[in-house]
Amino acid sequence: MEDRIISANLMMEDTVMELSLRPRFLSEYIGQSQVKENLKVFIEAAKMRKEALDHVLLYGPPGLGKTTLSNIIANELGVNLRTTSGPAIERPGDLAALLTNLQEGDVLFIDEIHRLHRTVEEVLYPAMEDFALDIMIGKGPSARSVRLDLPPFTLIGATTRAGLLSAPLRDRFGVVSRLEFYHIDELAFIVSRASEILGVTVVGEAAQEIAMRSRGTPRISNRLLKRVRDFAQVRGDGIVTHELARSALELIQVDPLGLDGIDHKMLKAMIVNYRGGPVGLDTIAATIGEESQTIEDVYEPYLLQIGFIQRTPRGRIVAPQAYRHLGYPVPQQFGQPEDSGQTESGD
Ligand SMILES: Nc1ncnc2c1ncn2[C@@H]1O[C@H](COP(=O)(O)OP(=O)(O)OP(=O)(O)O)[C@@H](O)[C@H]1O
Ligand SMILES: [Mg+2]
Repeated sequence: MEDRIISANLMMEDTVMELSLRPRFLSEYIGQSQVKENLKVFIEAAKMRKEALDHVLLYGPPGLGKTTLSNIIANELGVNLRTTSGPAIERPGDLAALLTNLQEGDVLFIDEIHRLHRTVEEVLYPAMEDFALDIMIGKGPSARSVRLDLPPFTLIGATTRAGLLSAPLRDRFGVVSRLEFYHIDELAFIVSRASEILGVTVVGEAAQEIAMRSRGTPRISNRLLKRVRDFAQVRGDGIVTHELARSALELIQVDPLGLDGIDHKMLKAMIVNYRGGPVGLDTIAATIGEESQTIEDVYEPYLLQIGFIQRTPRGRIVAPQAYRHLGYPVPQQFGQPEDSGQTESGD
């Protein structure tokens, strides 16, 4: 569906590279200091008590390091990691099989946990809370429920859409951590580290330039680095200089803030067709020929993050800095702070 170079979603071409670039210990995991500091304490404490770590929920936009962090947690605990995903567990029996195969202290990682089937989710509740599995034996009037004990384990759930998690499930996580978009300095550091692993020479401000255009997302900075490296090999002498990075990124149409053609198209449509909003998500989607869900999950989070659009109950509004960035005159209503006379158009 989506093959934008600046997509935060995992693409086929990333998979091999991500394996080699993925940090393996907390000390190599850059940024997210709050989350990291907390986890460090919880992991240490669990190890001292020789207990399983509390269940952990990691949420945040794609490509920020949820899967990476789950791997690191298991690694730091020195336990096995079993990986699965919400939609992959089709029946309660599948989950039961996963759980009964765990060893004491192991980590079960469920990616996209918001997509867990309801019937499966219900099996998970007693497993998380009491380390027990309730299974039904027999059918009809003679059916009875048997409780099996499970070894204490840690569930790590990851999701890009925490809002879709049911309250009973969310409440069973002892640690709930939100991953944030990365600062440019952190991304520049990630680019430098990746370039060392890949054996690419990146000099001067080049790492900074790639970082600036990575939408706060390590997955994107790794991908941009890879593309820039191609340009350096073919057009240059293999060294990624600032100038080379800048011209390569211009050529692949990632602008200095990391916006690409689709972002421009969406913002322009909102400005030109709807006078900057408020305009409803579905209307935007229909105007630019995209799914509302895709806009909400993929395009919009970064535009919200950099303050280019705002969400209001009446729809989305384009902010003055987006007008400036795209070279449109900023409408008057933004010039007067106390102005209440916003346009009433929109849906
Ligand atoms: N803190 C970090 N330090 C260094 N590299 C990172 C960090 N976080 C993520 N990365 C890099 O970004 C890549 C993508 O991260 P990861 O797959 O963990 O994201 P995710 O949040 O699980 O994404 P999705 O929501 O698509 O599953 C990793 O392979 C790794 O190379
Ligand atoms: Mg992941």
